[in-house]
Order: sequence, then structure tokens, then C-alpha cells
Amino acid sequence: MKFAIAAIALLALGASRPALANAQLAEEKQCMQCHAMDRGSIGPSFQTIKAVYQRMKNPEASLMAVIQEGNDANLGPHWGRARMPNGSERPRISDREARQLARWILS
Ligand code: HEC
Repeated sequence: MKFAIAAIALLALGASRPALANAQLAEEKQCMQCHAMDRGSIGPSFQTIKAVYQRMKNPEASLMAVIQEGNDANLGPHWGRARMPNGSERPRISDREARQLARWILS
């Protein structure tokens, strides 16, 4: 019985791991200080960003550039008052991490 419960708990953990890792990464890289999934904050919501970038030719590469360089990437519409800081003003984001965040936003 104990074993079965542990197995179920492990399965549940395994199933939720990718989403957790994405959210954790976004948290760690301070994205959530300025963005939320479904409502505007200092920056636009990730849902709004997804809707715009989905219509672009190469959304993943464009998103990666923005995620690493902020407004310095000079892509996409400008939503409002605030700008997104460039890479030197935020925690460093590797290509791999930027790709993961881009895929997460587009998913
Ligand atoms: C200090 C606040 C801040 C942080 C931290 C931040 N952003 Fe932003 N982000 C913004 C603002 C403001 C905009 C809108 C810029 C504009 O309108 O030109 C934006 C825009 C974006 C865009 C769309 C850019 C465009 O112009 O089309 C993406 C994608 C994005 N952010 C992803 C991220 C991710 C992923 C992280 C974490 C790695 C992050 N942001 C961290 C403030 C922030």
C-alpha cells in the first residue's frame, strides 16, 4: 500500500515536471516580476505575446532574441509605456534557457 502511494506520487510529480520547470525558470530569471500569463502587468501578458508572435514567420527565434536582449532586440510591437530591460540588466539567459522560455510562451 505504501509503495503504491509512493508510486502514484512519483507519477504525479513526473507528469507535472515540465510545466513546473518552465514556471520555475521564468521565476528565477525574474520574468514574473514584469509579466503574468493571462493579464497585463508592467509588460504584456504571455498570452497576448503568444497571440502576436504566433503570426510571425519564425516566432521561436524572435522570442529568443527578445528574451535575451529585451527591447534592444527591436522586434515586435511596442505595447506601451515601459520597455523591457536588455540582457545586461537582468539575470543571464543561455540559448537553451531562452529556447525553453520561448517554447513555453508559444505552447
Ligand atoms: C523589468 C521588467 C521586465 C522583465 C524582468 C522582463 N520583461 Fe519582458 N517585457 C517587459 C516590457 C515592459 C515589455 C514590453 C516592451 C514593449 O512594449 O516594447 C516586455 C516584452 C516582452 C516580450 C515581447 C517583446 C516584444 O516587443 O514583442 C517578451 C517575449 C518578453 N517580454 C518575455 C520576457 C521573458 C521571458 C522574461 C524573463 C526572462 C522577461 N520578459 C522579463 C518587461 C520585462
